[in-house]
Amino acid sequence: MIIAETERLVIREFTIDDAPFILELVNEPAWLTFIGDKGVRTTDDAVRYILNGPVKSYHTHGFGLWLVQLKQENIPIGMCGLIKRDLLEHVDIGFAYLSAHNGQGYAYEAATATLEYAKDKVGLKHILAITNQDNFRSIRLLEKLGLKFERLITLPGEQKPILLMGASLLSGNS
Ligand SMILES: CC(C)(COP(=O)(O)OP(=O)(O)OC[C@H]1O[C@@H](n2cnc3c(N)ncnc32)[C@H](O)[C@@H]1OP(=O)(O)O)[C@@H](O)C(=O)NCCC(=O)NCCS
Repeated sequence: MIIAETERLVIREFTIDDAPFILELVNEPAWLTFIGDKGVRTTDDAVRYILNGPVKSYHTHGFGLWLVQLKQENIPIGMCGLIKRDLLEHVDIGFAYLSAHNGQGYAYEAATATLEYAKDKVGLKHILAITNQDNFRSIRLLEKLGLKFERLITLPGEQKPILLMGASLLSGNS
């Protein structure tokens, strides 16, 4: 199912056919550094990740992490989407791209469409994001999207506090 189209991108739901792409993405150095090791080593692991992560969320919440692909070339470049975690009061936005496609504004383009979807289709009034304090590219992108520092939080089982950022999605705000 297609979630949104932008000038250069298509955002759609993941299917298990995207397993080879997930295997590549979750083993990118930046993913391992800033998001963590999901233990996905084989295509079968990647199928399980897709089913237990994004697909489960589509069924539970009607949204989740989606695949971002280049419209013209029809190739997957990353993921962007909405996550509902028990430990956070509001839904948060998440994203990750293959490093080969960084620095071209794709992450910003997809995240802008995701926030529009969150506001207009899901009806969210507030959006959050969590990010490591040293993930400067992610922080810069979130600030460009209009999210601001809310507070430091420490996730269960973690030692280091991370940034909780957020923005109102009500009219007049980004
Ligand atoms: C965080 C992450 C998604 C940011 O990706 P990115 O490539 O920096 O983001 P964009 O694609 O939007 O690129 C933005 C840059 O491209 C530039 N750019 C080039 N062409 C552009 C265009 N046509 N439109 C907009 N920006 C463009 C912008 O100027 C911007 O540069 P700047 O930040 O120096 O101002 C990426 O680093 C990543 O996947 N990291 C690993 C996963 C991760 O950490 N996820 C977040 C967990 S909280």
